[in-house]
Amino acid sequence: MSDAVDTVLANLAAVTTPTDAEREAMWLAVAELIERTEAAIADLGIEATVLHVGSTARGTWLSGDRDIDIFVRFPNGTDREKLTDGGLSVGRAVLDDGKANYAEHPYIAGTYDEFDVDIVPCVAVEDASLAETAVDRTPFHNEYVGDRLDEELTIDVRIAKHLLTNIDAYGSNLRTCGFGGYLLELLILEHDGIRPLLEEIVDWQPPVQYDLKDHAASSFDDPLVVIDPTDPNRNVAAVTAASQLARVQHYARAFLDEPASDTFTLPVRSPLSDAELIDEIETRGGELIALIFDRPDLVDDQLWPQLRKTRAGISGELDRRGFDVLRTATLATDNRLALLFECAVPKLSRIERHEGPPLAFKAHAERFLETYRGEEAVYGPFIEGDRYVIERERTIRTPRAFLASDRLFDVRIGDQLEPVLESGYDVLIDEDLIELLPSFGEELSAYFEPIP
Ligand code: UTP
Ligand code: MN
Repeated sequence: MSDAVDTVLANLAAVTTPTDAEREAMWLAVAELIERTEAAIADLGIEATVLHVGSTARGTWLSGDRDIDIFVRFPNGTDREKLTDGGLSVGRAVLDDGKANYAEHPYIAGTYDEFDVDIVPCVAVEDASLAETAVDRTPFHNEYVGDRLDEELTIDVRIAKHLLTNIDAYGSNLRTCGFGGYLLELLILEHDGIRPLLEEIVDWQPPVQYDLKDHAASSFDDPLVVIDPTDPNRNVAAVTAASQLARVQHYARAFLDEPASDTFTLPVRSPLSDAELIDEIETRGGELIALIFDRPDLVDDQLWPQLRKTRAGISGELDRRGFDVLRTATLATDNRLALLFECAVPKLSRIERHEGPPLAFKAHAERFLETYRGEEAVYGPFIEGDRYVIERERTIRTPRAFLASDRLFDVRIGDQLEPVLESGYDVLIDEDLIELLPSFGEELSAYFEPIP
């Protein structure tokens, strides 16, 4: 018997399944690309085979997707330089507008007809566990999933990708830190469908560990552990953040409680106005402070971990210094970045406490007394409990004073962000943040109306 959940899932199946025309266009493009790649390999006198991988090879791509992943597989033992040079030459020969991309492994990205194509060199290792890079493993994933996903489960993978995409939880890139395509394929296989998967997710209690082939899931320290069935040393969900797992859990519960095709949706934000910003700052009554700097020329997978590290480092130091951080955020455009900190305490007293040693430690205690007795700007030494205490002038009384000082560089800052900050940054507070509205209006609007 079918109920509301099934009805909505059937609707989602219809919108995510590529049409016959789409499929035909895709197959044609893939066939032509494979032919061109084989021809390029022959022309260049290279020893390699051509493989079509990823979601378009497994049938798990969504209607509207235009990504084709073509791998050029070199014999086992090919040295890296030969592989890189060969792979890039093949890619350039196949794609007229191909450009080299060096995120983790070098590959060529370009377009063919209306499709976005990656041409990626890899090595034909004997076993996925012998993979030197993630791409060496991909052909094994293809085989594993291809052998097991039937038409019905393929539909469910597409629905899962669609739902998570809608809440910005789809993707294993290091900005999203969500659920990648292969991970969703494995989860759908493990639960035998999207509905049983959603029903399981609502009761997840992290760490959630799946051991698809009886390997040791417990040796991983991640909120979600799905052992790669092709490589027991790898957790396919290694990048999935605890917060993304929790978000998916929230939306899964909402969906099963009240199934609707738009349960997994984020609202479209209209940019915050100057007046709304002023009003929010007034209402909340803390201090909003932003550190603004140029976006370095880094790929997302390098940039975002460094932004997170820097934001956490600064936030922790603001807390330690007594400014009591309420919330933080990262705002990003193509050329500017802003780290936002909202402090509950915008200004501290002119003096601070400084505890000395207990009197029981005679030598230390006498030295402390010696150092501070008679100092102009110092209150004390006096005694509290069993130790000497003084109160002295505080050097940094405001978040701004901290952010503007060199003490900022004592915190852990991403390696490639440090030179950017060293070459200059701006600090904006409260109503000065109006300056950010043209670039970050939607993000600031979301900041003041947070949702799961
Ligand atoms: P893609 O990111 O293109 O994923 O990586 P996909 O499965 O094709 O899904 P969509 O529909 O394009 O979003 C291609 C393959 O590379 C491997 C997986 O085998 C994946 O299917 N891969 C990719 C990983 O193992 N880990 C990753 O983080 C990314
Ligand atoms: Mn893909």
